[in-house]
Amino acid sequence: MHASLFRKIDPARRAEVTLTVAGLPVAAQQGESVAAVLLRQADAASRTTPVHGSPRAPFCMMGVCFDCMVVVDGVASTQSCLVPVRDGMAVERQNGRRSVLS
Ligand code: FES
Repeated sequence: MHASLFRKIDPARRAEVTLTVAGLPVAAQQGESVAAVLLRQADAASRTTPVHGSPRAPFCMMGVCFDCMVVVDGVASTQSCLVPVRDGMAVERQNGRRSVLS
């Protein structure tokens, strides 16, 4: 068990879905944002900066800071605070600069 500061307020309220974060299965509730799920993980980092590789985690939770960018189902630079979880979703941390070639 890790020591995240974040937890679900009412864990039994909504249907559960399973997504993967960095390849590991994670349970979440329908309606949660991907950022909320990331903040409950032992490593809450969503991305690293392009220049120094410093970790960043969701901060504003309203689409302003861009620190929550992740790769969702292969789509880079997705703001995880604006995306609700889906069953089977694959979330990867975004390391450094986004590739424009894919
Ligand atoms: S947490 Fe700030 S834009 Fe998503």
